[in-house]
Amino acid sequence: MNPLLEKLQPYPFEKLRRLFADVSPNRERRPISLGIGEPKHPTPAFIQKVLADNLAGLASYPTTAGSDALRAAICGWLEQRYRLPRLDPSCEVFPVNGSREALFALAQAVIDPYAKAVVVCPNPFYQIYEGAAYLAGAEPFFANSDPAKNFAPDFSTVPADVWPRVQLLFVCTPGNPTGAVLSLDEWKALFALSDKHGFVIASDECYSEIYFGNERPLGALEAAHKLGRKYDRLITFSSLSKRSNVPGMRSGFVAGDAGILQKFLLYRTYHGSAMSPSIQSASIAAWNDETHVEENRAKYIQKFNQVTPMLAEVMDVALPDAGFYLWAKVDKLATISDTEFAKRLYAEYNVTVLPGSYVAREAHGINPGANRIRMALVAEVDECLEAAQRIVEFTRKLAN
Ligand SMILES: Cc1ncc(COP(=O)(O)O)c(C=O)c1O
Repeated sequence: MNPLLEKLQPYPFEKLRRLFADVSPNRERRPISLGIGEPKHPTPAFIQKVLADNLAGLASYPTTAGSDALRAAICGWLEQRYRLPRLDPSCEVFPVNGSREALFALAQAVIDPYAKAVVVCPNPFYQIYEGAAYLAGAEPFFANSDPAKNFAPDFSTVPADVWPRVQLLFVCTPGNPTGAVLSLDEWKALFALSDKHGFVIASDECYSEIYFGNERPLGALEAAHKLGRKYDRLITFSSLSKRSNVPGMRSGFVAGDAGILQKFLLYRTYHGSAMSPSIQSASIAAWNDETHVEENRAKYIQKFNQVTPMLAEVMDVALPDAGFYLWAKVDKLATISDTEFAKRLYAEYNVTVLPGSYVAREAHGINPGANRIRMALVAEVDECLEAAQRIVEFTRKLAN
């Protein structure tokens, strides 16, 4: 077996399963999970219909680059969403089977495993980045998010002698779990580092369409364009999973540096990761429609506007820039760890939340997820409100 597999940590939900193994939840309350970041709003009927109407696509092998029509739809979306000049559909975009597999695969394609490569990851972070780095033969370096700077990863902690070994840097904007969106100034600093050290930036943007104010989250390509740059060493990852409530469809795209995408496409041809033609048809319909995205966003705005102030009375939590998580510090009223909080909340109130330390690593002397919890407000409004009421009651009880 590949010895690098030994480096993979159990997934956060496996850790949660073990944490809860000897706990019996309070059966007097119906179970509510804010644990898993899986969208729960229904898939729009028109997407289901296009998928059903195009099942004939199952009869042919798809190309790895996807159909011209899908790449054109993606370019059209990028153009209107980020006010970009039209990307070249023949070389600057292609579809992927959800952003997760593509984030993992990009690392395998860009990293030179013989060069003691380093991959910089935000901390807390989406666990795929770490596994992608290890299996590509690299070492992850964790740049802790700084709560004082709206959870921006602190890249100043990367030592001067490490930067020349960095081949890939992941950013997640809007972030999972913090919801933070990178600013134009932060992008400017990051591009300067990439120019200096030659690493690739992978910008994970799958939460870009869930936001609460009037301002749409800034995208990586948009930042590059605003700064008058080309997309050199920059790849962005987008997805329909959260935008269109189709996590089971496995549909997203990559866009950016044509030279890197050309090699990445070659890698993927061998890996065998082409998107089913039926899914491609449904994806075109989804990328071409914004009405369902606006309706979806309105539901999240309603939930976040009601739940956040309730929870803010008992824990350190604020409306994030974007995304569908609340990233809360739980030791405001009583000294308690994130794991103990999650365990007792489950036992006493039958509400599941994810301990923050499970989505972060100990780095630079701290685990930036310690004493925090991640709550995914994915269920319908009334369920999220009921969960919030129970959490408030539980937290107040802890303080007494
Ligand atoms: C930060 C982040 N990136 C990527 C993904 C993968 O999404 P998908 O593969 O459905 O596009 C997720 C899923 O939860 C995520 O939280």
